[in-house]
Amino acid sequence: MADETRSDATIEHLAAEGRTIEPPEEFARRATIGTEDTYRVMYRRSLEEPERFWREAAEQELDWIEPFDTVMSGGFEDLDYRWFDGGVLNVAANCLDRHLGTWRRNKAALIWESDDGHTKTYTYQQLHYEVSRFANVLKKKGVEKGDRVAIYLPMIPELPIAMLACARIGAIHSVVFGGFSSSALRERIQDCSAKMLITADEGIRGGRKVALKVAADEALFECPSVESCVVVQRGAGDVDMEPGRDTWWHQEISAPEVRKPCALEPMAAEDPLFILYTSGSTGKPKGVLHTTAGYLLYSALTFKTVMDYRDEDVYWCTADIGWVTGHSYIVYGPLAAGATSLMFEGVPTYPDPGRFWAVVEKYRVNIFYTAPTAIRALMRHGSGWPQRYDLSSIRLLGTVGEPINPEVWTWYHETIGRGEVPIVDTYWQTETGGFLITPFPGATPLKPGSASWPFFGVEPEVVREDGSRADPGEGGYLTVRRPWPGMLRGTWGDPHHKRMHEVYFERFPGRYFTGDGARVDADGDYWLLGRVDDVINVSGHRLGTAEIESALVSHEAVSEAAVVGFPHEVKGEGIHAYVILRDGYHASEDLASILSGHVRKVIGPIAKPDRIQFAQDLPKTRSGKIMRRILRKIAAGETETDAFGDLSTLAEPKVVKDLIAGRAAL
Ligand code: WT7
Repeated sequence: MADETRSDATIEHLAAEGRTIEPPEEFARRATIGTEDTYRVMYRRSLEEPERFWREAAEQELDWIEPFDTVMSGGFEDLDYRWFDGGVLNVAANCLDRHLGTWRRNKAALIWESDDGHTKTYTYQQLHYEVSRFANVLKKKGVEKGDRVAIYLPMIPELPIAMLACARIGAIHSVVFGGFSSSALRERIQDCSAKMLITADEGIRGGRKVALKVAADEALFECPSVESCVVVQRGAGDVDMEPGRDTWWHQEISAPEVRKPCALEPMAAEDPLFILYTSGSTGKPKGVLHTTAGYLLYSALTFKTVMDYRDEDVYWCTADIGWVTGHSYIVYGPLAAGATSLMFEGVPTYPDPGRFWAVVEKYRVNIFYTAPTAIRALMRHGSGWPQRYDLSSIRLLGTVGEPINPEVWTWYHETIGRGEVPIVDTYWQTETGGFLITPFPGATPLKPGSASWPFFGVEPEVVREDGSRADPGEGGYLTVRRPWPGMLRGTWGDPHHKRMHEVYFERFPGRYFTGDGARVDADGDYWLLGRVDDVINVSGHRLGTAEIESALVSHEAVSEAAVVGFPHEVKGEGIHAYVILRDGYHASEDLASILSGHVRKVIGPIAKPDRIQFAQDLPKTRSGKIMRRILRKIAAGETETDAFGDLSTLAEPKVVKDLIAGRAAL
């Protein structure tokens, strides 16, 4: 176990020290969950009387067209768990329409900050109008309930508008991150047979243009399921438009007939809402499927209680909507809660490393939620940048995406949070829909580096290899023992849950396995230790090593490749690729950059290897299995073979020495 996870000596040290930071009194007094006791009582009730707990939550948090008859059924035995059966509702109605009958009608729902500092604000009324208009466009183009719509857009308001428009008519959206390549886009469109694609002429990030339509055209070349493509004009509009297939968004929405209100599609609680692809330890990305009621309830309730949202707050999550964080905590959770959600098109360092803080000052942001990688990147530019801005509006900070180490946590707390603002280190996954383990800012004594407590209804257990419960302080595998409303309902194209069972339920029967290592300390607080499978976490983004390996092997020069993560100061993990060339090819820096470029083209810039190490051979067991443990140690710079653990199964011991030498020569 210890061998497979990151070194957490510092965390251990702080945990041993028992340093905790109590919730500020003023914060606790006004918080939704304001004492440790309140949390404990509610948590216990959520496990002991789950039906009652979730019934009350669902009645209180959501607007139903028809009430549900059953709170929950099924479980991890047959994987046919269902929530709120019999209930009928619509997600867009819950995010928009229901606020129109209240004072929130004229409240800002969405504030958009563009890359170059312009602003667009949509009140709930205005957003409702735009969503309804675009929903009419979808219908006019033949999109029906249950059809898949792929969305490949930059961080512009049309992105949440398109998502909500799909939700309004019951179409299933699949957002593909704008940083993915044309082949990654193609693969996702093909997997879910999307009927329509929504894209933009180009994206603009950090002053640089991203040629989205060019990539989309390349992808659509091999996507026969796509009948139409709607293109938002973000740039100069100077792109090819395929007659009969492509139309402009602004032209579509200006047709008079789409201005009339679009009727809501009544959706069953378990009707699909969206598919979002994510990498796993096997080659192909999986289309994680989320459904209507459970997902919406879970994202709304976690948002309200953990982000402690109050109606006067401006809330900013810096994630891209192309990832689940943006789905749950820019769009669905906040809008269902009637919040003001800020979305940002740009990057933290453009035009300078003060950009985040300039935006906080400009809108008087109260709740700020970002990733450890962004904090680390900004930390490197020094405290001078944040100090130039008035950050006094901030009352809550959050992080997500990877373990945050205590030094970074402390910098965030002191420099951005004035040494007094609570930080919620929220642990969750694409599959979980919302927070699984998280502090409650008015109730949890914080320990830098710990994600603290399970959310209501979540019953985690850290187990050993053999499935028995790990002792306090002992590292193990993080599993969950029962379903919760926000969890995935399956993966696309796997109606009998065969793949889902293999990926999440096989290793520890009867439990959901997260793929992460964790330990629980003597106080019952959870510490996440990183992935224990062949998944690496680069800047808070999950990448399957197998996917990068297949990209490398798809190049004619490569005969074999093995990819591992290594500790990286800013990204958390960097990508180290060991490459064996085919006969007739010779190792060179040029070839290394050609191969990097190839991976970038196949998957996207995020997957580009940081290092390529050419090798003659890989360390394998006698049965031919690559010993990744050794490759990870070498990539991390380890040179003493004593530190490599048991090498007795290694077929060819000399390989290790050669690889160490090769690593040193990089
Ligand atoms: C993986 C999920 C869901 C948010 C974005 C990433 C890691 C996420 C934390 C955290 C330690 C974390 C895990 C997890 N992770 N948040 N607070 N502390 N690790 O979503 O792409 O589905 O990745 O991110 O390893 O399994 P994702």
